[in-house]
Amino acid sequence: MLPIYNQKSRIKLVVAALALLIAAATLVYTNVLVRRVSEREQQQIRLYARAQAFIINTEVNSNTNFVFEEIINANTTIPIILTDGDNVLGAKNMGLPPHLPAADSVRRMKAELTLMKQEHAPIVVTLGAGYKNYIYYRDSQLLRQLRTYPLVQLGVVAALALLAYFAFSYSRRAEQNRVWVGLAKETAHQLGTPLSSLVGWQEYLRASDRFREEPIVEELGKDIRRLEIITERFSNIGSNPVLNDENLLLTTRNAIAYLESRVSKKVKFSIETDLPTDTPARLNVPLFDWVIENICKNAVDAMQGRGSITLHLRRVRVRRSWLTRRATGPQLAIDITDTGSGIAKNKLESVFLPGFTTKKRGWGLGLALARRIIQNYHGGKLFIKWSELGRGTTFRLVLNQ
Ligand SMILES: Nc1ncnc2c1ncn2[C@@H]1O[C@H](COP(=O)(O)OP(=O)(O)OP(=O)(O)O)[C@@H](O)[C@H]1O
Ligand SMILES: [Mg+2]
Repeated sequence: MLPIYNQKSRIKLVVAALALLIAAATLVYTNVLVRRVSEREQQQIRLYARAQAFIINTEVNSNTNFVFEEIINANTTIPIILTDGDNVLGAKNMGLPPHLPAADSVRRMKAELTLMKQEHAPIVVTLGAGYKNYIYYRDSQLLRQLRTYPLVQLGVVAALALLAYFAFSYSRRAEQNRVWVGLAKETAHQLGTPLSSLVGWQEYLRASDRFREEPIVEELGKDIRRLEIITERFSNIGSNPVLNDENLLLTTRNAIAYLESRVSKKVKFSIETDLPTDTPARLNVPLFDWVIENICKNAVDAMQGRGSITLHLRRVRVRRSWLTRRATGPQLAIDITDTGSGIAKNKLESVFLPGFTTKKRGWGLGLALARRIIQNYHGGKLFIKWSELGRGTTFRLVLNQ
């Protein structure tokens, strides 16, 4: 396997770990801040309570004025409600609109009081003659904001990061598409010239008395046919391939017949199906052949040239798009099962990555290309349905009807 995939997932891990670390540090730090501010506010409230008690229990003089100005009026942030246990005696910093009707203001105050009771135990102010007042309070607006702010901030940053990631992966995919398409087009184009000259040579040999009967002419014809197929494939991948209603069974049979003649006789091919023989599927034949060839060649490699490859054609449950809940139309599947080496569980997705190969002389492009052809050009799916080490593998290819 190319080291790039290892490296990429390691980089992703490091980035994710860093992001988590930053998030955790932010939360811990603001938590510390919140605790400090909260302690301070409670201190302030206790001082406030003592001042209240002092004022009520002391005759008015310059000292009480000072206490009143500097302590009681100094609290302009912490919401407070003073009660004698049953009745509300006064309130401060409630943030109520100035011209609120009395009934509304009472209702709001009651609701606020319930909240305050949940948040902090009241501070008891002991007055003369056994009377007691209670000061209920809540955290100031500042403290509440300080609590939620880091969460909001982290949320916004995470949303931005997600957006950037999608934008980046979209543009990367678009770039990959351009590379695939461009390279394929160029290849088809370049093959064109020697191919037409070969066709010319074949005509020449056929016309000459000396070579007409030689087997070389027929062999040359086979190679030309092979090159034409390759050119056709590349030019289809390099353009917008046309899908037609093709007979699925017949097309599959043809593809297998072509392959059968070119691989070891110890590999047994078979096609099974319960479908009517004339079942159509939306196909581009040259590209479909290429997919079957790639999958079957891998199977032959995995069986080391001895075993069986079974193709099972079936109808599959119609799937609904999770977004629109609309049925995607009737679908057909081809299950291609080999009796080869199998694929390890943790490699079931990696085998589709371009460059992933376990072969000495492999490019790791076969399955990447096959998946591209099926998913991008046929709107279908290609995945591994079953695999067991030492027993074999089933690839499922889903097509639209
Ligand atoms: N039927 C199978 N059984 C077991 N392993 C498989 C099978 N098909 C694919 N693989 C594994 O997946 C890897 C990737 O396959 P892929 O066809 O993409 O590339 P490749 O065959 O290695 O090279 P090439 O580009 O020549 O096709 C293979 O190297 C092999 O390890
Ligand atoms: Mg291959």
